[in-house]
Amino acid sequence: MQQRALGHTRRSVSAIGLGTWQLGADWGQVSEQDAAAVLAASADSGVTLFDTADVYGDGRSESFIGRFLAARAGHDIVVATKMGRRLAQEPENYTPENFRAWTDRSRANLGVETLDLVQLHCPPSAVIDDDATYEALDELVAEGRIAAYGVSVETSAQALAAIARPHVTNVQIIFNPFRLKPLDEVLPAAEAAGVAIFARVPLASGLLSGRYTAQTTFAADDHRSYNRHGEAFDRGETFSGVDFEVGLKAAAELAASLPSGVTLPAATLAWIASRRGVTSVIPGARNVAQAQANAAAAALLDDGFDVEAFDRAVHEVYDRDLRAAIHPLW
Ligand SMILES: NC(=O)c1ccc[n+]([C@@H]2O[C@H](COP(=O)([O-])OP(=O)(O)OC[C@H]3O[C@@H](n4cnc5c(N)ncnc54)[C@H](OP(=O)(O)O)[C@@H]3O)[C@@H](O)[C@H]2O)c1
Repeated sequence: MQQRALGHTRRSVSAIGLGTWQLGADWGQVSEQDAAAVLAASADSGVTLFDTADVYGDGRSESFIGRFLAARAGHDIVVATKMGRRLAQEPENYTPENFRAWTDRSRANLGVETLDLVQLHCPPSAVIDDDATYEALDELVAEGRIAAYGVSVETSAQALAAIARPHVTNVQIIFNPFRLKPLDEVLPAAEAAGVAIFARVPLASGLLSGRYTAQTTFAADDHRSYNRHGEAFDRGETFSGVDFEVGLKAAAELAASLPSGVTLPAATLAWIASRRGVTSVIPGARNVAQAQANAAAAALLDDGFDVEAFDRAVHEVYDRDLRAAIHPLW
């Protein structure tokens, strides 16, 4: 597995990491046993980045990771957590006191003195644009509560604002074949600034698995049932903001462009990881088979898969089916 520099830190992270929202909540039931098996399968496959958040299952995801890593002496895994959604996303809640309380809770959940990396969890633009935000985060670093910080964002404009800040280690943004806007400015700006990019929702919440049909249904406690139109949080977090039927057609077109033996999710992850400026892709996995397949997709980067042919298909499909609806929004 390729390992890449994590911004200006001395750490590195795998080209394909693991998203662990699934191990918390909002994706139907994932048992503690399955969660531990997903973490182990990923680590055993060379994954050295786990992305989590204090709100995933109200600490469930962080606690599973903490217990798993405590039993894995000498590991080199970077845990990127997030903070800022335990209260309403109002600018007045992003105070140094709340930052301390939130990071103290994550330190306890993860069982560490110093958090490797904390990302603000999609805060309002006013917070991303405020000098006081970064002063407070710098204090957390000086206090040893966190080693580094970043910002998870919804829009390209927010990403550019965060990238411009000197001590930001990473920006996390939705980037996948159904969401190409980051190619325009965000990835070049991040590369120039040495800011790491984590590409989230890389499989468009599973639409790019190529497994779903018009008959596919999701559990009532799965956001793919209850947030299709942005009822609970930003619509872009569910299926990348793409209408389900439109996404099915686009996924089928992309799958048809692939040589036999290469699956759509593997091609998608390798394509994302191969774009300049991307540091790590963080697919979520609900079971061991998915975790192993996703990590194994990194091999496509080295084994002759024609990623530029897939790139052409991605642009064709996006321009024809998706650009008009998606490009102006995020
Ligand atoms: N605001 C934020 O900062 C934010 C928001 C969203 C996500 N994230 C992070 O980004 C991570 C990734 O995004 P995501 O989980 O929302 O979406 P995603 O990675 O695009 O999709 C995950 C889903 O894809 C399917 N899948 C995964 N691997 C597969 C494989 N090998 N073959 C077939 N299907 C596969 C599974 O669907 P099934 O469930 O149908 O099996 C899985 O639940 C999250 O876990 C989280 O860490 C952060």
